[in-house]
Amino acid sequence: MMQTPVTVVILAAGLGTRMKSRKAKVLHRAGGKALVEHVVATALELAPAERIFVVVGHQAEEVRKAVATPGVGFIEQKEQKGTGHAVMVGREALAGLGGYLMILYGDSPLLRAETLKHLIEAAAAGDAAGVLLTARMADPTGYGRVIRDARGGVAAIVEQKACTPEQLAIREANMGIYCYRADLFWKHVDEIRTDNPAQEYYLTDMVEILNRAGHHVDAMPIDDEREVLGINTRLELAEVDRLLRERKLRALMLGGVTIEKPETVTVDAAVSIGMDTVIEPFAQILGRTTIGENCRIGACSIVRDSELADEVVIGAFTIVVTSLLERGAQAGPFTRLRMENHLGEGAYVGNFVELKKTRMGAKSKASHLAYLGDSQIGARVNVGAGTITCNYDGFGKHPTKIGDRAFIGSNSTLVAPIEIGEGAYVAAASVVTEAVPPDALAIGRARQVIKAEWAAKRRALGKK
Ligand code: UD1
Ligand code: CA
Repeated sequence: MMQTPVTVVILAAGLGTRMKSRKAKVLHRAGGKALVEHVVATALELAPAERIFVVVGHQAEEVRKAVATPGVGFIEQKEQKGTGHAVMVGREALAGLGGYLMILYGDSPLLRAETLKHLIEAAAAGDAAGVLLTARMADPTGYGRVIRDARGGVAAIVEQKACTPEQLAIREANMGIYCYRADLFWKHVDEIRTDNPAQEYYLTDMVEILNRAGHHVDAMPIDDEREVLGINTRLELAEVDRLLRERKLRALMLGGVTIEKPETVTVDAAVSIGMDTVIEPFAQILGRTTIGENCRIGACSIVRDSELADEVVIGAFTIVVTSLLERGAQAGPFTRLRMENHLGEGAYVGNFVELKKTRMGAKSKASHLAYLGDSQIGARVNVGAGTITCNYDGFGKHPTKIGDRAFIGSNSTLVAPIEIGEGAYVAAASVVTEAVPPDALAIGRARQVIKAEWAAKRRALGKK
């Protein structure tokens, strides 16, 4: 944490009309998180949660839920009367906190903490009342223009609509990101008037107000303009999503993860992946997934909110959701670990096997074509091809329990609730409705009948 205490206010009360959405703009997702979540995560690199505040208005409840970081505060702006108003309504919560006041937008998720640290340093270094982030743009249409004074400071910010033709030609634009000395900001903020065509409280007026009071304001031009790419439409949302994901993959690769054809791979922001793991093309690794070292995630697989220990192998076209895979476990190709499964060390689940709320002990196998639901399966169990747990009777779900080293023959039907003892065998194609004791053999099928010469006789009949 920095020496200069900073309070961060994130403006996120607007709806964002140009998104053409019933959902508030900051709730839209890019890089696997709501836009506002990214900004809060960045703010947490600058200040403790207790000094971070989000100004909410449209869909305030949903925005609060999306942020859900303990300690982060919220300021309700019931009516959106402008960027200045958005900060003014927080006076009670904010004015008592000294140091610096940094203002960010909830719809600018690309802004890096590094850049903002420079802004704080710039504010703390000189004797300015504040520093604003600017960009020299090829086309600054829509942005407030930065009017420099003779000494290189900022005299004013003029909104596009109020610009004279000369001012419109200015390329340096206000990014709406500021770091002010908190004492001076709160002393003068009430001088903001609504004497503009929009009749809003413009935060941008603070620059002139502070100049008038005998202070000066500096500007810090940003190096990489793409960082301040805000989102107004879904086109920009897609572009920001792409940039965030590129950034994530870059960080993973620099951290020792091999990513094949990275342009096809999707990894959410909160995912962590260990060294020497290989991610094959078109894989999607989502939510709060953590993956250990030396794993392999097969082509076109989807892993969501799951935990994979070291040496885990996920084959191609496999779906893993809210599951835990211990060291060396393998799933796929073509496996579905639907929800809340747990594969023990070295367990193996093969093609066209679906697991739901099932635990498989160490070294157990279900290599082909099976459905195992609500099952507790011990270690070194072999589940034959075509095995089905009948866990649902039309009313409720019932458990299946299979002891260590049991052997379930192919095409068995296990009618739950049912228990198969340790070391027991189930003959292939059995329908098992009663508990099987340990080390027993259960055969639950019709006995085979042989009708000698039956086929030959039938053929002979057909010739007549
Ligand atoms: C603002 C700046 C402009 C700058 C631009 C950069 C002002 C008057 N103008 O313009 O100089 O170039 O940002 O993007 O500040 N918000 C609230 N409550 C409100 C109004 C806005 O929370 O009452 C939030 C919005 O949800 C949005 C952000 O503040 O996230 C910016 O508001 P917006 O109306 O988009 O400002 P701009 O017109 O873009
Ligand atoms: Ca805007």
